[in-house]
Amino acid sequence: MDFKIAVIKGDGVGQEIINEGIKILRKIEEKHNHKFELKEVLVGGIAIDKEGVPLPQKTLKICKESDAVLLGAVGGPLWDNIDPAIRPEKGLLALRSELGLFANLRPATINESIKESSPLRSDIVQKGIDFVVVRELTGGIYFGKRKTQIIDNVETAYDVEQYNENEIRRIAIKAFETARLRNKKLTCVDKANVLDSSKLWRKVIKDLSKDYKDIELNFMYVDNAAMQLIKDPSQFDVIVTNNIFGDILSDEASIITGSIGMLPSASLRSDKFGMYEPIHGSAPDIAGKNIVNPIATILSVAMMLRYSFDLEEEAKDIEKAVKKALDKGYRTKDIYNEKGIVVTTKEMGDLIAKEI
Ligand code: IPM
Ligand code: MG
Repeated sequence: MDFKIAVIKGDGVGQEIINEGIKILRKIEEKHNHKFELKEVLVGGIAIDKEGVPLPQKTLKICKESDAVLLGAVGGPLWDNIDPAIRPEKGLLALRSELGLFANLRPATINESIKESSPLRSDIVQKGIDFVVVRELTGGIYFGKRKTQIIDNVETAYDVEQYNENEIRRIAIKAFETARLRNKKLTCVDKANVLDSSKLWRKVIKDLSKDYKDIELNFMYVDNAAMQLIKDPSQFDVIVTNNIFGDILSDEASIITGSIGMLPSASLRSDKFGMYEPIHGSAPDIAGKNIVNPIATILSVAMMLRYSFDLEEEAKDIEKAVKKALDKGYRTKDIYNEKGIVVTTKEMGDLIAKEI
């Protein structure tokens, strides 16, 4: 089958990880006889440098004409002091919003052979870590009104967290449906003891749970959830939460599973279209050194094949190949723990491609 993919390498390590993602796509193409038509477009700091804006119109158009988008990472200290209105991150947020990608799935699983890389106590890891954060991605405080102003000679700023019931319902449906395909447990994470917006989340989700009687639903305050993720992550199956809590908790989720370099993500809407990216950032401190872990990106490619192209067998091929490379002891620096063989970014990509 033929698929169109818009490819955004972005900034920092983005170039290196996407090159490995493409390597894997080419391998799948060859093995399973598909055709992936890749179009490279600019977002982030590199787009600011070349086109003057973090999300050029041409990029948006090509993304909209594609079946899926593969994205590396955006941002870095080079653009820290530019006009906040055109920061690299603005490009990413605008892209998510323009493409209507309201549901961000961030699965967190621990690979047996790199268990020692988890900073958690081994008896906690032993109980297993396998959950998905379903993060609302196009609403809340990221997109609410914000302003910096002088009030009575004092510099003052606000950012508004606002959700309407439709925005909550559609993300909650994604979360319930996700739970249905997994272990049928859903935890709604909020701050309903303080925030009105969280109270509305609870109301809408409680109401919706009548249609999902097979799913065990519970509610947890975000501060407690941050603690429970460290105390006993095995209790979680699917977590649904707003944009900002999801941002924070998914970084926590990534480190307890060994390395932020391992976790993929899918940003989805109601049709098959999606954008796929590692959950880590542009890591400027290690960019260009051929040491970044490409696995989060490679697993994001697997998610693309599964969710946007319905290529389940091909997705499993990639996931199995990653597991095999890890089981054989190959490690990028971030997951090296005395045992094993340290490999570069490109070598890890080659090893995984070979397993496919
Ligand atoms: C993420 C990132 C982004 C976010 C940044 C780069 C704007 O941290 O994808 O988690 O906060 O959503
Ligand atoms: Mg983040």
